[in-house]
Amino acid sequence: MRFLTLITVSISLLTGCALHNYGDDQFQLRMAAHGKDIMWVPTRIDTATQMLALAQVKSGDIVYDLGSGDGVIPIQAAKRYGVRAVGIEYNPDLVALSKRNAIRENVQNLVTFKQGDIFVEDFSSATVLTLFLGENLNLRLMPTILKMKPGTRVVSNTFRMESWVPDQEVSVRSSETTIGTLNETIYLWIVPANIDGSWEFAGLPNLDKTTIRFIQKKQFFDGTINSSGKRSIAFEDGRIRGEGIRFDFESNGKRYSFNGQVNGSQIKGTLNGDPKLLVTGKRL
Ligand SMILES: C[S@@+](CC[C@H](N)C(=O)[O-])C[C@H]1O[C@@H](n2cnc3c(N)ncnc32)[C@H](O)[C@@H]1O
Repeated sequence: MRFLTLITVSISLLTGCALHNYGDDQFQLRMAAHGKDIMWVPTRIDTATQMLALAQVKSGDIVYDLGSGDGVIPIQAAKRYGVRAVGIEYNPDLVALSKRNAIRENVQNLVTFKQGDIFVEDFSSATVLTLFLGENLNLRLMPTILKMKPGTRVVSNTFRMESWVPDQEVSVRSSETTIGTLNETIYLWIVPANIDGSWEFAGLPNLDKTTIRFIQKKQFFDGTINSSGKRSIAFEDGRIRGEGIRFDFESNGKRYSFNGQVNGSQIKGTLNGDPKLLVTGKRL
């Protein structure tokens, strides 16, 4: 079913793309029917720029596009933000086209195009990852993506990752195609720090020797605060955004909001925005 959706979307996007002259005098879109796991369907330049804006690309970022086609996303990243960008592409003709495109846009010093398989090549140094691959391939990449550095921004054109709710989604365009209206949406995920497990916390009000058990599901978490001799407290709205962590709880009839930062096996933050109410945690 998903595959069928992908083919349908690909065909409809291609129908739109066919109006444009993608490629150059040596290699054009119609020659690239076969990628490895998915064929080449180009992201339009304006969608590429919106994807980079959604990722909030900034100086110092390293942008990787997985399955980089003609290189439009890495080239736009270098051109608009002056950042280093890498494309990994299986089809050697597309790698060669990307390199020619980079020279034409005068960003050849900032971009690298690598011929290779996205399921083999290392992209762990990316701070921004862009995808236009289909939901199945996104899903296959998901375990690797979740192990990337917390805070890495992942933007996908059109396709979601089934069990990972996006942190943000933006509808970029709807276009009329031969099969009806196609709504193009881009999705953003921020790789969450891993907090799953038990932590010892200090500084929570009226709660000595506190152990917190976090049960993490991607950027969300549940769990309980356990303090010796007291009833365990369930917290609410547990949320991680990169290294940022927040949750709410009630103790002695008073509500608290914790906001902090995860740094490996340490968590530091404050309650109710009060710098005097400092809370620290360490992984057990
Ligand atoms: C839908 S196109 C997207 C191209 C580009 N990212 C863009 O947004 O314009 C997918 C690209 O992935 C490439 N591809 C497919 N499977 C691949 C794999 N296993 N490793 C590397 N590239 C792959 C295809 O050749 C194709 O160029």
